[in-house]
Amino acid sequence: MTKIRVGLIGVGNCASALVQGVYYYSSIGRESFTGLKYSNIGGFYPEDIEFTCAFDVAKGKVGRDLSEAIFAPPNNAPRFAEVPSLGVEVLKGPIMDGLNEYAKKIVEVDASKEVDVADKLKESGAEMFINLLPGGAQKASLWYAEESLKAGCAFVNATPTIIASDPAWDARFQEAGLPIVGDDLMDQVGATFIHKAILEALARRGVLISETYQLDVGGGTESADIERVWGAKRIIKTKTIESILPYKASVVAGSTDFVEFLGNRRDSYMWVSGIYFGGAPFEIELRLNTLDAPNAGSILIDVIRSVKIALNRGDSGHILPISAYAFKHPAKITPLHEAEKLFEEYIK
Ligand SMILES: NC(=O)c1ccc[n+]([C@@H]2O[C@H](COP(=O)([O-])OP(=O)(O)OC[C@H]3O[C@@H](n4cnc5c(N)ncnc54)[C@H](O)[C@@H]3O)[C@@H](O)[C@H]2O)c1
Repeated sequence: MTKIRVGLIGVGNCASALVQGVYYYSSIGRESFTGLKYSNIGGFYPEDIEFTCAFDVAKGKVGRDLSEAIFAPPNNAPRFAEVPSLGVEVLKGPIMDGLNEYAKKIVEVDASKEVDVADKLKESGAEMFINLLPGGAQKASLWYAEESLKAGCAFVNATPTIIASDPAWDARFQEAGLPIVGDDLMDQVGATFIHKAILEALARRGVLISETYQLDVGGGTESADIERVWGAKRIIKTKTIESILPYKASVVAGSTDFVEFLGNRRDSYMWVSGIYFGGAPFEIELRLNTLDAPNAGSILIDVIRSVKIALNRGDSGHILPISAYAFKHPAKITPLHEAEKLFEEYIK
């Protein structure tokens, strides 16, 4: 089997979980894949993923081997795997709007010169470029998507910046003969997934949901960016939750606040109210406590392997079966069970 050659944009917490996950699942044997839904996608296992290049701006990450940079502060993702030296030096990209006001206080920008990202990406032999920039880094995210096109790479947008679901970018990637998927990754055990699953199950049983909300607090640098991220995430989350119901209900869903001592932990609170048989009322209250970074790992490993299938098939533009399964804001939002079916048919 050939390797899947991946370039990373941003060596933060998600990148840490992804890189560690590849080595963790490569080391435990193919039969015991607890935490990973698909051991094998299109004949590809986690061990087939190879990181060829990575870009960041932070001092302490730039210039270091990727295996060390993933543990450099302010990253606070848990350490769950030994990652060998990868021979991949983290390179300096342009900063643009990459750091929010809080991140600027805790991250020193590396003084080295920026590299030519498209050149380095191409030189590394990467076939897909994964955007793991902070939410709110709109300009930088769009700029890296351009570099991906220049280098002839598929693009995976895990951030809430609207790219893959924008018809204009879809057309440009189609024209270039390259796949693009996104936007805003949907976590494995995330509040959006759990909230959607509850609402979908209730609505399918004839229940009428009238009001529901989902609010959360976290301690990652992104949660500190109330102004930039809060708005974007709230729009995407509310839209994706609303879309699951076959009728109109009052829905509010979005990140709310920063609690520094939570570190990589996130507390999500959900509340649902409605009526069932004979107009009987009910309420559900739920608290979900998770670790942010590992929540992205499993889905990213699935996305990478399925984008490789898209590349092998010569599929281009926005790949809906992958985006609908793995992201909160695909071009068309489908119910969870339909999205999973679409995905499984695609990877067959
Ligand atoms: N489970 C999850 O954590 C999850 C779920 C869904 C979506 N996402 C999205 O994934 C993205 C990454 O999340 P994270 O928790 O890893 O963020 P993070 O803040 O830990 O990491 C971002 C990294 O990008 C780097 N960076 C900033 N500007 C840059 C630039 N111009 N060029 C290159 N690198 C730059 C930072 O130094 C940092 O290392 C976010 O957009 C987030 O919304 C994460």
